[in-house]
Amino acid sequence: MDPHYTEWLNLVIRWAHMITGVAWIGASFYFNWLENHLDRRTPKEGQAGDLWAIHGGGIYHLEKYKLAPPQMPEKLHWFKWEAYTTWLSGMALLSAVYYLNAQLYLVAPGVELSSLGAIAISLGSVIAGWVVYTTLCDSALGKKPALLGLIIFVLLIIAAWALSLVFSGRGAFIHVGAIIGTIMVGNVFFVIMPAQRNLVGAIESGEQPDPKWPAKGLLRSRHNNYLTLPVLFIMISNHFPSTYGTQYNWLVLAILALLSVLVRHYFNTRHQTQKFAWTIPAAALGMVCLAFVTAPKAPTETVNKQVSIEEVSAIIEQRCTVCHSATPTYAGFATAPKGMMFDNPEQITSYAALIKAQTVDTNIMPLGNLTQMSDQERQLVGKWVEQLSK
Ligand code: HEC
Repeated sequence: MDPHYTEWLNLVIRWAHMITGVAWIGASFYFNWLENHLDRRTPKEGQAGDLWAIHGGGIYHLEKYKLAPPQMPEKLHWFKWEAYTTWLSGMALLSAVYYLNAQLYLVAPGVELSSLGAIAISLGSVIAGWVVYTTLCDSALGKKPALLGLIIFVLLIIAAWALSLVFSGRGAFIHVGAIIGTIMVGNVFFVIMPAQRNLVGAIESGEQPDPKWPAKGLLRSRHNNYLTLPVLFIMISNHFPSTYGTQYNWLVLAILALLSVLVRHYFNTRHQTQKFAWTIPAAALGMVCLAFVTAPKAPTETVNKQVSIEEVSAIIEQRCTVCHSATPTYAGFATAPKGMMFDNPEQITSYAALIKAQTVDTNIMPLGNLTQMSDQERQLVGKWVEQLSK
C-alpha cells in the first residue's frame, strides 16, 4: 500500500483508539470515584448512599441502590462499547503498525522469523493469555485472590521475557499490553456484562439473582482496576527507548507495573485508610532508582581517537539515510520518519543526542538493524557525540 495512505490509515485508527480508550478508562475511573465518595451515613430506604457534584455548570445528585430501585427505570445506561471499541481499534492498530511491517517493527534484529510466523506468535500469545487467565480465575485459585494476583503477575512477566526473545523491545512491550488489554475486555464481555444482565433480568422477573455471578464479576472488575495503569504505560512506552531498548526490558516493565499497581492500591483505599500512603513516595523512589539503573553505560574506551564529522556522516549515510532523508529510498517510506533527515552534517549534528539515544545507548535504530550497523560503527558515533558535548 502507498506509504502516504498507510500513514493516514494509522492516524485514523490511532486517534480512534485513543478516544475510545479515554472513554473507557475515564468511565472506569469515574465509577471508582463515585463508589469511593458515596455518602453512606444516612442512606434512604433501599439505598447504599448518595453524593452531590458540580460539573460543567450543573449540579448533579447521584444515588446508589443497594440492589435496585423498586421500579426499574425505563432507560438504564450500560457501559460496554467503550471497552469493545477500544479493543477493536487496538487490534486494528496492532495490525496496521506491526503486522503490515512485521520485519521492521515486530521481529527482533537478528532473529530468523517470517512475518507470518511473527503474526502467528502475536495472535497466539493474545489468545493464550486470555485462556490461561480465565482458566486460573475459574479454578480453585479464584477463592485466593492474593495468590491468584501474584501468579497472574508472574505469568505476565514470563510472557514479557519470552516475547522479548523473538520480538523487538517495543514489539514485546506492546504485546504484553495487548494480552492485558484483551484480558480486561474479555472480563467485560464474558463475565461483567453477563453478571449485570443476570442481575437486571432477575430483578425484572422478580427472581433471586444467581449468586455465582456477583462474586465472579467482582474479582474480574478488581483485576481490571489494577491492570489499568500498567496497560496505560505500555501504550505510551514506545516513546521511551530506555525502557524497552535494553536487554532487561522485561524486568524494567515488571518493576514499572509493580510500582503502578502500588499507586493504584493507594487510590483504591485512601477513602477508608491512609495505611497505604507510603506507596506514593515508595513508587517515586522506585522511579528514581529505575532512572539510574537504566542509565546508559559510560562509553567504552575502545575508540581512543578523535572521530571526525566526515566519518560519522559516512556511517549515517550508509546505515540511516535510506529512511532518514528528504528522499527516502527504503520501500514503504514516503517521507523521513518523524521528519528526521540526516542528509548533511548540520542535520546530523542537530540530532546528535537523539541519534546517540537510539543507536549507541540502545540498539533501536536502525530499525530491525535492517541496514546492518556494526558495533564498531555505533562506538564511533558514540565517541563523536561525546566529543561534541565537551
Ligand atoms: C528502515 C528504516 C530506518 C532506518 C534504516 C533508520 N531508521 Fe530511524 N526511524 C525509523 C522510523 C520508522 C522511526 C520512527 C519510529 C516510531 O514510529 O517511533 C525512526 C525514528 C528515529 C529517531 C527518533 C526516535 C524518537 O522517537 O525520538 C531517531 C533519532 C532515529 N530514527 C535515528 C536513526 C539513526 C541514527 C539511524 C541509522 C543508524 C536510523 N534511525 C536508521 C526508520 C529508520
